[in-house]
Amino acid sequence: MEEPKVNPELAEQLKKLQEKYAAMGQDLSSYLDGLLYSDYLTYWDYIHLDTLLSLQNPKTSFPDEHIFIIYHQITELYFRLIILELEQITAKENPDEKFFSERLDRVNRYFGHLENSFDIMVKGMERDQFLKFRMSLLPASGFQSAQYRMIEFYATDFINLVAEKDRKSVTDGNNIDDVLPNLYWRSGATELATGKKTLTLQQFEKKYLDQFRDLGISLKSKNVYQLYKKHFSGNKNITDRLRAFDTLANVLWPLAHMKSAAHYLEKDPEDIKATGGTNWQKYLPPRFQKIIFFPELWSEQEKAEWGKAAFIRK
Ligand code: HEM
Repeated sequence: MEEPKVNPELAEQLKKLQEKYAAMGQDLSSYLDGLLYSDYLTYWDYIHLDTLLSLQNPKTSFPDEHIFIIYHQITELYFRLIILELEQITAKENPDEKFFSERLDRVNRYFGHLENSFDIMVKGMERDQFLKFRMSLLPASGFQSAQYRMIEFYATDFINLVAEKDRKSVTDGNNIDDVLPNLYWRSGATELATGKKTLTLQQFEKKYLDQFRDLGISLKSKNVYQLYKKHFSGNKNITDRLRAFDTLANVLWPLAHMKSAAHYLEKDPEDIKATGGTNWQKYLPPRFQKIIFFPELWSEQEKAEWGKAAFIRK
């Protein structure tokens, strides 16, 4: 049989490969043997489809519990996508405008999808099934989503994560140990009269509080708000995107999410308790917490109307 001819392109590729492997003291020929024996990649192996589809373990036999689990997982994957962008943004010492704005566009696109898809929860499950299977999930709550909190730390200074009404309790807004006890979600899940934390909060803190503290410290001078102030102050292109990010993360997603609490938990004459034990009607509405990542970008009137209908229509 005639030997196959090695065309010049292939010879050039082999030369480059040989150089690459030689640089690491490796023998290309052995690696080519490996290539000969290895299987072709399949779609299902690449995305770990079987593993992915095995990650839903309902606690009850109500079929709609699958929807509840899968939609939470979808949301966490979107949160992951958002964090991947925020990691890249905050890793750059001198981000250029194009990079900064394109990455913010990605973040906003992901948040937009989350806002728009929330009807899967609000309209997509039978209320009776939900009210039964959720009892098997106590005291777990989406409140315990660590990625949601991490997005907040990436976005802004930690003082902006204290509810407006609690700011006076913070002595030094630049010191994470002064701010940490007053974060809005810690206050929201603490009984005012007794100071007792809900079990949902206690477990969450035990698992994640140290990590949050480290993250807050590492991002202190390079969170998105700090980067804006250092490099893009007053830049309209960036300001527009940051305002969109603030609105999506702190008004539109929270309102879409709150609709599900209203749909399932509001019932005359008595409201049903939230799984995480918060007073959700006071805790979830953005107009009460007034969490704003980028306060410098909003007028006094816009901040006063945060989360109210007049603001949202703009
Ligand atoms: C039927 C659907 C849902 C209902 C009724 C619901 C209800 C609630 C309630 C009542 C709270 C307040 C904390 C508590 O006391 O438990 C809460 C917080 C939260 N939930 Fe949901 N939730 C739903 C779906 C989701 C989904 C799909 C996610 C996606 C991860 C999610 C993420 C969150 C987050 C991040 C918080 C904390 C919000 C904050 O601290 O501002 N929830 N939820």
